[in-house]
Amino acid sequence: MSGTHALERTRLGAAGAPPAPHDHAAGAPVAVGEPLIRLRGVTKTYGMGTASFQALRGVDLDIKAGEFVAVMGPSGSGKSTVMNILGCLDTPTSGQYQFRGVPVEKLSRDQRARLRRRWLGFVFQGFNLLARTSAQENVELPLLYRGEKAADRHAMARRALAAVGLAGWEHHTPAELSGGQQQRVAIARAIVCEPAVLLADEPTGNLDSQRSVEIMELLRQLNEEQQITVLMVTHEPDMAAYARRVVRFVDGLVASDVAQQAGSGG
Ligand SMILES: Nc1ncnc2c1ncn2[C@@H]1O[C@H](COP(=O)(O)OP(=O)(O)OP(=O)(O)O)[C@@H](O)[C@H]1O
Ligand SMILES: [Mg+2]
Repeated sequence: MSGTHALERTRLGAAGAPPAPHDHAAGAPVAVGEPLIRLRGVTKTYGMGTASFQALRGVDLDIKAGEFVAVMGPSGSGKSTVMNILGCLDTPTSGQYQFRGVPVEKLSRDQRARLRRRWLGFVFQGFNLLARTSAQENVELPLLYRGEKAADRHAMARRALAAVGLAGWEHHTPAELSGGQQQRVAIARAIVCEPAVLLADEPTGNLDSQRSVEIMELLRQLNEEQQITVLMVTHEPDMAAYARRVVRFVDGLVASDVAQQAGSGG
C-alpha cells in the first residue's frame, strides 16, 4: 500500500511547485505524534430562528497523528455532526478547525475538497457502496476522481482489497457480499488513497458481533501497521475498547476525554 503514494507525497512536497500556504495536495507525510486535528470552540447550529437547533455548543478537541479514538455519547449528542465537520463534509457555524496547523475555515470549497481527498477516508454505518458495481470498481472510484491511470487504479484497488482480506472477491457486487465483507470493501475504498485519518461513523452498527470484532481488528491493524489515525463513533463499549482514547459527547459538548489501555474488545 505504501509505494506509489509515499513517493508521490515526497515528490510533491520536495520537488513539486512550492506549496501555496493552503495547498493540501502538497506536504510531507504526517509523523506519528504530530498535531493533526485541533478544534476550538466549534459550534454548529442547524436551521434558523425559533426552529434552530445547536448541535455543537463549543467543542475543543485535539487529535495527534497515530491515535485511535472512540467517540461515544447518547443519540443526538453531536457525534456525527463533529465527524462531518472533521471530514470537511460540513462547516462549523463558529469556532476554529485546524488540520495540520492550517485553518480549514479559511480554505475555499475547492481546497477543502482537495484536503478531504488527499488526507481523509470515510467509513459509514450503511457501507454506502454503489450497487451493481464490483468491489474492485467501488474501490477504484476515489482514484478515478483523482485522475489515476487505469493500470494504476487496478493495481492500487487490488492491493487495498487484499489489505482488508478480500483478495479474490474483486468481481463480486455488494449484493453478492455479506455485511462484513461490504464494510471491508468500504474500508478498502477509504484507504486506497492512503489517508492520514480514517473517520468511521458507527462502522459496526449494521453488523453482528463476530463481524464487528473482525472490522475492529482490521481498524486496529490499519492504525498500528499503517499508522492511520482512526476516529470511530460507536455506541458499543466492546468496540470502544479497541481505542486508546474515548471522547464522550453529551449535549453538543465534550463531556469526558480519557486515555485507556487498548483492549481486545472481547
Ligand atoms: N441536517 C440537520 N438538520 C437539522 N438538525 C440536524 C441535522 N443533522 C443533525 N441534526 C440534529 O443535531 C443533533 C445532533 O445530531 P448528530 O447526528 O450529530 O447526533 P449523533 O450523536 O450522531 O446521534 P446518533 O447516535 O443518533 O447517530 C440532533 O438533535 C439532530 O437532530
Ligand atoms: Mg450519528
